[in-house]
Amino acid sequence: MTTTVTSRVTITGKAKLAGVMGWPIGHSRSPRLHGYWLAQYGIDGAYVPLAVAPDRAEQAIRALPALGFRGCNVTVPLKEIAFRTVDRLDPVARRMGAVNTIVVDEDGALVGGNTDGFGFLENVKAGCPDWSAEQGPAVVVGAGGAARAVVVALLDAGAPEVRLINRTAARAEELAADLGADLDADLGAAGRITVVDWVSRETALDGAALLVNTTTQGMAGHPPLDLRLDALPVSALVNDIVYAPLETPLLAAAKARGNRVVDGIGMLLHQARPGFRAWFGVEPQVTADLTRFVLEG
Ligand code: ATR
Repeated sequence: MTTTVTSRVTITGKAKLAGVMGWPIGHSRSPRLHGYWLAQYGIDGAYVPLAVAPDRAEQAIRALPALGFRGCNVTVPLKEIAFRTVDRLDPVARRMGAVNTIVVDEDGALVGGNTDGFGFLENVKAGCPDWSAEQGPAVVVGAGGAARAVVVALLDAGAPEVRLINRTAARAEELAADLGADLDADLGAAGRITVVDWVSRETALDGAALLVNTTTQGMAGHPPLDLRLDALPVSALVNDIVYAPLETPLLAAAKARGNRVVDGIGMLLHQARPGFRAWFGVEPQVTADLTRFVLEG
């Protein structure tokens, strides 16, 4: 029997190490994503899945420098634990209250960042290059961790208003109060977040330049997001951060009425760029071939 070897593991004893820590971690596409870039750029490095239970996450994060790791990504449900564990926070992670990227500094300190908002913005800009946050009000549906990253990114990018809609109003109020207080202190721009009741969600679309779904609705196995788009201007851009399926019922409905749409896979791909650059020393590119490869996995 002949076997064709199409690829080889090429790491040496000097390989640069990183990974993704979460619980569970088996579903993560990040090892496939970083593995593609490592092979593409011929880097002597490895990016591995790290299945770490929440009660051992602090211990595992603290062990990164001792193990010689250059850092790691952190995913659900460990982002808040990472936030509390790292030695230093970058300003964006501090505002988001969560860390998704840890870099071990030259002195061995753990530096926590959050690139989810960067990934969101880069994805929307790549999908629709003439869009900019300043163009008009953004409507964000959801108030979980993903919504927090999206809202911070939109405000930092100059959105004049963010209308925040969540089924549970108290969660949206809390997010707005947290970010409003930060904005007051940091940017003098409080008041740009408007919390809209769930029952008024459809009228909140009036005059919007962007609509983003950050909820789990529309994901495979979940019902579609319950949101009629009649009041949304046809000029508005619609983005769903769900990427399985790639075309959610929300995006299909938006497309059918003539709105431009951007799907969610690029947020995952772009949020990975800063970590890869910090750990492996190369600025990686997001390409159509990479997107296909990650979606196939
Ligand atoms: P993440 O941190 O990944 O954003 P999350 O914290 O679980 O995830 O948030 C999920 C979001 O989906 C929340 O905004 C949630 O709304 P609630 O705060 O009211 O729970 C939203 N969501 C989940 N199921 C929903 C449903 N059936 N209708 C509307 N929103 C829903």
